[in-house]
Amino acid sequence: MLDTILGALDTTSVFVFLLVFLIGYYWLTSPKNMPPGPMGLPLIGNLLQLRAAGSNQLELLKKWRQQYGDVFAIRLGSKNLVFISDYKILQETFVKNGDIFSGRPSNLYIINQIKKKTGTGVILSEGAIWKELRRVTLMTMRDFGVGKKSLEQRVLDEALAVVEVLEKGEGQPVLFKPLLSKFACNVICSIILGDRFDYDDKTFIELTKLVNLAVSQPLVFAPVNFLPITRFAPAGKKIIHDVVDSFVTIDNFLGTVLKEHEETYDPSEIRDFVDFYIKTRSDSDDAHLYDASNMRRVIIDLFAAGTETTATTLSWILLYFAAYPEVQTRCQQDIDKVVGQGRSATMDDRKNLPYIEAVITEIFRVVNIAPVAVPHVAVKEGKIRQYTVPAETIVIGNIREIHLDPVNWPEPDIFKPERFLDKDGNFCPPKENFMPFSIGPRACLGEVLARMETFLLFCTLVQSFTFVMPQGQKPDLQGQFGVTYSGKPQPFLAKRR
Ligand code: HEM
Repeated sequence: MLDTILGALDTTSVFVFLLVFLIGYYWLTSPKNMPPGPMGLPLIGNLLQLRAAGSNQLELLKKWRQQYGDVFAIRLGSKNLVFISDYKILQETFVKNGDIFSGRPSNLYIINQIKKKTGTGVILSEGAIWKELRRVTLMTMRDFGVGKKSLEQRVLDEALAVVEVLEKGEGQPVLFKPLLSKFACNVICSIILGDRFDYDDKTFIELTKLVNLAVSQPLVFAPVNFLPITRFAPAGKKIIHDVVDSFVTIDNFLGTVLKEHEETYDPSEIRDFVDFYIKTRSDSDDAHLYDASNMRRVIIDLFAAGTETTATTLSWILLYFAAYPEVQTRCQQDIDKVVGQGRSATMDDRKNLPYIEAVITEIFRVVNIAPVAVPHVAVKEGKIRQYTVPAETIVIGNIREIHLDPVNWPEPDIFKPERFLDKDGNFCPPKENFMPFSIGPRACLGEVLARMETFLLFCTLVQSFTFVMPQGQKPDLQGQFGVTYSGKPQPFLAKRR
C-alpha cells in the first residue's frame, strides 16, 4: 500500500506537499491578533527582505511603517518583532506597561553567547538582577561624580587632551571617531578605575577598538540570531567572532585590572566605582548578585554603551559643522561672547548658550544615533493598543521614525537648530516626540553623563578650532547602521582659530 502511494508521488507533488505543510505550519504558529505587517516566508519570515535591503534597512522600516502603520509586526525565523513608531503608544508600552515590556531578548544567539561567556550585566539582564544592578550602578555613578563638579572637571581635562592631540596634528586631515572614542572611554575609565590612559597606550588603543568593533555590528537583525544555519556561513562566523570574542577579550582585560583592585581594596578609602562595588558586595545580604563576573559585565556595559554612543554623537556634530559652516560660525560667536578664550566652558554656561543647546538637540533628532534603541521583550502576554502580544515578543522603539515624522516635525529631514528656539532666541527643549535616550524604566542610565560630555567637548572644540573638509570634498551625511548609526569614516580638518 505504502509502496503504491510512494510510487505515485513525483517530485512536484512532494514539493507542493512540503510547501503547503510549511505555509500551514507558519500560519498555525503565528500568534493571532498581532499587529499587521509584511508577509514572510515559512521558516525564515521576513529575513530575506531585510537582507535584500542591505545598508538600507532603516529605509525598509520606514516603508513598512508607511504601509502598515505606527504598530507593525515582522517575523524573523521563529521570533516575532513588533515595531512602535508613535511616541504616545511607546509611552503606554515602555512607561505605563513598563513592567511587561522591559525585558530583554533571552533567546537570541549572540546575546546568549555573550551572557554564557562573560556573565550578565545591566543591559542584557532582566527581572530582579537587572533592577538591583541598575540601581547600584546608577547610585555608584552618582557617588563618583556624575552630575557633580568633580566629574565636570575630569571631562574638561579630557577635552583638553583632545585639543592637545589636534594641535599636534597641525591641521592635517583627521579621522575623528577613534580620537573621540578615546575621549569617551577615558571618561568612563576615570569613573570606574579611578584613572585615565595615555592616548598612545597600546592596551587602551586595543580596548577602544574592541569596544567599537563589538557595538558597531548590525546586531539587531543579524540572521545568526534567527536562523541557526547562518552561523556556519563566513558572514555569520565573522559577526559572532567580532562581537563575542571582543566581549571575551575585554572581560579578560578587566579581570586583570579588577584583581589588582581587589588586592589593594581598603574599605576606609573608596577610590572609584570598582571599590564601591566591592563594598556593596561585602555589605549586602545578596552578595551573589555582585559576584566578580557581574561586576565585570556591568563595567563592560558602561564601556560598551558609553563609548561608542558618545563618540558617534560627537563625530556627527563635527561632521555637521563641516557641512553647515554658518551654524559653526554662530556657535563660535556665542562661545566667544559668553565664555571668551580665557577659560573653558562649564555646565553653568548652558543656560547662556541656547543656540548650542539647540544644535545638540537637533543633532540627536535628525541623526538618530540609536535609531531602534535596544530591543525590549514582553516578559508575559501584553496589549499594545488593540493588539495582543505574546510573551517573548521582541518590541522595538522605532526612535528614528518618531524623530523624522513630518506630523511631529515639519521638514523633518532638514537640519534646523532654530526649531528649538523661541522668537527671542531662548532654548525650548522638546516635551514630546523626542527620545534619543529612550523612555521608561529601561531608558539610558548614562544620559546625564552623555549630555555633560557632549556639551563640554562641543564647547571646548568650537572655542579652539574650525572644522572643514579637505579642499574640494563634501561631507557625506549618510551613515551606516550597526547597533548605532554612525558616520562613514571620512577624514577632515580641525584648523586652529
Ligand atoms: C549620546 C550618548 C548616548 C545615547 C544616545 C544613548 C542611548 C541609549 C539608548 C537608546 C538606550 C536603550 C534604552 C532602552 O532599552 O529602551 C541606552 C541604554 C543604556 N545606556 Fe545609553 N546612550 C548614550 C550614552 C551612554 C553612556 C555615556 C552610558 C554610561 C556611562 C550609557 C549606558 C547605558 C546603559 C547601561 C544602558 C542599558 C540600560 C538598561 O538596560 O537598563 N549610555 N542608551
